[in-house]
Amino acid sequence: MVEVQLRVNGTAHRLELDPRVSLLDALREHLGLTGTKKGCNQGACGACTVLVDGERITACLALAVQYGGREITTIEGVAHPLQQAFVRTDGFQCGYCTSGQICSALGMLAEVEAGAPSAVTEHLAEPAVALTDAEIRERMSGNLCRCGAYNGITDAIRETAGVPS
Ligand code: FES
Ligand code: FES
Repeated sequence: MVEVQLRVNGTAHRLELDPRVSLLDALREHLGLTGTKKGCNQGACGACTVLVDGERITACLALAVQYGGREITTIEGVAHPLQQAFVRTDGFQCGYCTSGQICSALGMLAEVEAGAPSAVTEHLAEPAVALTDAEIRERMSGNLCRCGAYNGITDAIRETAGVPS
């Protein structure tokens, strides 16, 4: 067992963990933060997405011991207009993917703001990325939704970013 100091949603926690424990299991099983979901547990679905220092990661592929001292944000620590937008646009049905979708979208919007291109960005020389629906769908493609709420998810992100449809 090793001691790990995790800072989650602004609160510091000291845990004794097996070094093999994933960040996802540390959040869910050791800190009771079950808003972050476990889908595939192998990096394929995005249900476990959280923010670390504002960047999105899949917590099932991360070891908790690697994240000592970093600022981790889970859905329990998010209060953002994007959440209301998901409600308005029917961006979910069962809701299982939703916390991952929202954390991922917040990380994604920060990437766009920073000018990071995606695989579908057409004008790489432009300083600003135009957030088209194709950009949103490409950038959110790591987050699967078994209910198929993709249109509502795209609408919610577009609306929150202030992009006209
Ligand atoms: S549970 Fe982590 S990507 Fe699916
Ligand atoms: S809302 Fe059910 S999996 Fe996305």
